Amino acid sequence: MTEISEIPGTLDAVGATGASRQSIYVYEAPVRIWHWLNAVAISLLVVTGYLIASPPPSMPGEASNWYAMGYIRFVHFASGQVLAAAFLYRIYWALVGNDHARQLFFLPFYNRIWRWGFVYELRWYLFLVRYPKKYVGHNPLANTVMFAFMIAMVLMMLTGFALYAEGAGVDSLWYRLFGWVFGIFPNSQDVHTIHHLGMWFIVVFIILHVYAALREDIMSRQSMLSAIITGERTFRDSRPD
Ligand code: HEM
Ligand code: HEM
Repeated sequence: MTEISEIPGTLDAVGATGASRQSIYVYEAPVRIWHWLNAVAISLLVVTGYLIASPPPSMPGEASNWYAMGYIRFVHFASGQVLAAAFLYRIYWALVGNDHARQLFFLPFYNRIWRWGFVYELRWYLFLVRYPKKYVGHNPLANTVMFAFMIAMVLMMLTGFALYAEGAGVDSLWYRLFGWVFGIFPNSQDVHTIHHLGMWFIVVFIILHVYAALREDIMSRQSMLSAIITGERTFRDSRPD
């Protein structure tokens, strides 16, 4: 059987035998900048989106003196525009960047060893195996979850811009670009509901993602947090001393 260390992008479980270096440059600057910009935009979108759906209680006095919902919606729409512009830039970088920049957009499920790695990672996360496998980029399980996250992002942007277009009016450029979404879901409430459910999917993703990143940083004997900050992945021996 082919060893996992023979697939490009992966290393052996016991010691980084596939690599002569201890550290490899993985995430290029545009990928790292996108990651953190995206994280900030999504955090703002989740908080303001939640408040749009469940508005704070009425304030005393004239609503126009507070303009609370106006500010909340403004932050939501501005973050939405940043999210979309950054997403387009990320697609561009997937085309011109290194192989790891493309991982988010692609699932090599036709590869038997990749599928085997997926099952291994699942068992590793469930504490059923003792030694971590080492990957230069994302492991197959992380790759799959991030792929699902990217689909959710596309859905959030399409439904978000469709709702925005509705507010801008049927004669707006926004409506010409995104009005077709109402051709699929003629009831605007359905678009709101999909947009809302998408938020909870993303919230669950973030909780799992941060847990997995911190857990792997400690347990997998390869750097995670510093990898998404400096771009370099550092490997240590798999077997604890
Ligand atoms: C809204 C919050 C966040 C979102 C949506 C998010 C999303 C993502 C995505 C999509 C990637 C893949 C990057 C790529 O290949 O281009 C990624 C990687 C990563 N993120 Fe996050 N992230 C968030 C917050 C965080 C936080 C707070 C941490 C730190 C605790 C973190 C740690 C990491 C790490 C370590 C990686 C690299 C994982 C690896 O090397 O396989 N992320 N994140
Ligand atoms: C991760 C991304 C996003 C999250 C988590 C999010 C979250 C939400 C939530 C929870 C709502 C309330 C839905 C409801 O129950 O009625 C909402 C409304 C809305 N969102 Fe988003 N959103 C995101 C991205 C976007 C984007 C990219 C846009 C585009 C500009 C956008 C535009 C809107 C609009 C126009 C509304 C309706 C505002 C209103 O009815 O006053 N959203 N969003």
